[in-house]
Amino acid sequence: MFNLKGKSFIVTGAASGIGRAIALVLGEAQASVAVADYDPGGAADTATMLNKSGANAQAIKADVRDEKDVKAMVDRAMATYERLDGAANVAGISTRSLKLCELSLADWRNCIAVNLTGAFLCLKYQIPAMLKTGGGSIVVVSSTAATQGGCVRKRNTHVVLAMDIDLAYVLREIWHASLTKVFAKQACCPATACRQI
Ligand SMILES: NC(=O)c1ccc[n+]([C@@H]2O[C@H](COP(=O)([O-])OP(=O)(O)OC[C@H]3O[C@@H](n4cnc5c(N)ncnc54)[C@H](O)[C@@H]3O)[C@@H](O)[C@H]2O)c1
Repeated sequence: MFNLKGKSFIVTGAASGIGRAIALVLGEAQASVAVADYDPGGAADTATMLNKSGANAQAIKADVRDEKDVKAMVDRAMATYERLDGAANVAGISTRSLKLCELSLADWRNCIAVNLTGAFLCLKYQIPAMLKTGGGSIVVVSSTAATQGGCVRKRNTHVVLAMDIDLAYVLREIWHASLTKVFAKQACCPATACRQI
């Protein structure tokens, strides 16, 4: 296991799933972890797991759709750890309906707000914070949907038009690719890497 003692990280979407798993791995590597999520109970549980295993974690309630929350999340991590060496932006959702014609405008907007605007806001505030202490690495968790399309193939159906495609989800993955490329270039610092995975 690599050693990240003295380094600090923000993980969004860390109340469950992939985000929690990443936070726990960072803790195992002795990093300090800001465990961010809009689910405060889940974030607190992840932070407790980390702290019980000897890591230095704090739970932060942050909704990535909300610029004030994202700024406060980064400010708090910086205030506590005095540096930001990395971030894993994992917070994400899919739409409730896969069928384009049944997708409500509210669901579409929410998917774009969490998955795309959320990623943008995190990068917007994390990069300047990282540059203050010499740079770092950012991962934006995406999906193979970006390259393969996100679809549920109905049994015995191989006709493209008959597939249900989570269009908002697929688009966010494609836009993630562009977003991370632009931010990586604009960070203009060889010490800051930004990747979509
Ligand atoms: N699980 C998979 O197989 C898979 C495959 C490809 C991509 N992904 C992507 O990986 C990411 C995480 O997936 P997961 O399976 O761990 O999902 P999950 O639902 O377990 O975790 C997502 C987390 O994001 C948080 N979240 C949602 N909206 C938020 C918001 N507005 N602000 C802050 N936090 C918010 C949720 O509370 C949750 O803790 C998602 O972006 C998902 O699209 C997952």
